[in-house]
Amino acid sequence: MNRTDLLAWLTCGNEDELEILWQRADQVRQRYVGSDVHLRGLIEISNICSRVCGYCGINAANTALERYRMQSDEILECAREAYGYGYGSIVIQAGEDPGITKEWMSSLIRNIKEETGLAITLSLGERSGDELHAWKEAGADRYLLRFETSNRRLYDLIHPSLPGIVSDRIELLRRLRDMGYEIGSGIMIGIPGQTYDDLADDIEMFRSLDLDMIGVGPYIPHQATPLGASGAVHTVAECHQVPNTEAMTYKVVALTRLVCPLANIPSTTALATLNTASGREKGLNRGANILMPNMTPRKYRALYEIYPAKVCIDETAAECRSCMSHRILSIGRSIGQGRGDSPNRTRVA
Ligand code: 5AD
Ligand code: FES
Repeated sequence: MNRTDLLAWLTCGNEDELEILWQRADQVRQRYVGSDVHLRGLIEISNICSRVCGYCGINAANTALERYRMQSDEILECAREAYGYGYGSIVIQAGEDPGITKEWMSSLIRNIKEETGLAITLSLGERSGDELHAWKEAGADRYLLRFETSNRRLYDLIHPSLPGIVSDRIELLRRLRDMGYEIGSGIMIGIPGQTYDDLADDIEMFRSLDLDMIGVGPYIPHQATPLGASGAVHTVAECHQVPNTEAMTYKVVALTRLVCPLANIPSTTALATLNTASGREKGLNRGANILMPNMTPRKYRALYEIYPAKVCIDETAAECRSCMSHRILSIGRSIGQGRGDSPNRTRVA
């Protein structure tokens, strides 16, 4: 798939032609990663964040939001529940919370590993090399860090660097790989100011980073953010602006599968937010092979509002588990057993 092909698909509006793209992505998914859908229990352990990302509802400037950080034993209890459900891994996600210290997190990782043996994925933002090393040492297996957009100018506008530290997520991803983590990244689709060319660059960046996991979802404006309130920080001609739609998201999922056939690709919550009825299934039928059932205790769920109208706010972990299982079986797929390591990683290991 060269750049011309990528751009042609990204701008294609013909339903019949797109049907060919969906089928190709589905076939490649079946050939390279099979029919298993792996479940990752998502635990959103803290909504405290020291950054002021223009797009994100839990950014530090949103003073109206009540903040929480889960206790170690609460998190451990969620991990036990995930293990009990037969999930092979958990994703521990939070804002860039300085209260999540190197020592506290290391000991939590050790406890979870010792008790459950689950594969542990961290998604804790841009942390220091020292912390990331320590957490790997403690037993973490994977790290998720979306680069959001490969357009550096747009990235800087929506993702202000901390004083004195330039944010370079691409570089950090390379370091994470060198440390031995399975690495995951991804983007938001339809950021104001994002062009089709940018999207083609993003997908080519997935390939060149040799990512093990790739998560993409639509950008969903949040009123309590600078970008959501202003509408745009950077505008491009309408014909170049990528729409933040469901259809656009499927295209990126499908193309990502074609370009990175061995990667683990989730059908994301943001996608399900645009189409609660069948977004997840469509994602799975157009290239994805992972679902991330929410395991955050119910009392915290609504507070982890990175974007509005997120799905699964009122459900329990048990409800999400059964919902996900039904959805997987309803489309003739199977529920993956075990850790579900990225075939991309096991290939090179
Ligand atoms: N709309 C969609 N996705 C968002 N994220 C953050 N804010 C939004 C939003 N408003 C995504 C980012 C981040 C991930 C955890 O959630 O891609 O990396
Ligand atoms: Fe949570 Fe369907 S996955 S309700």
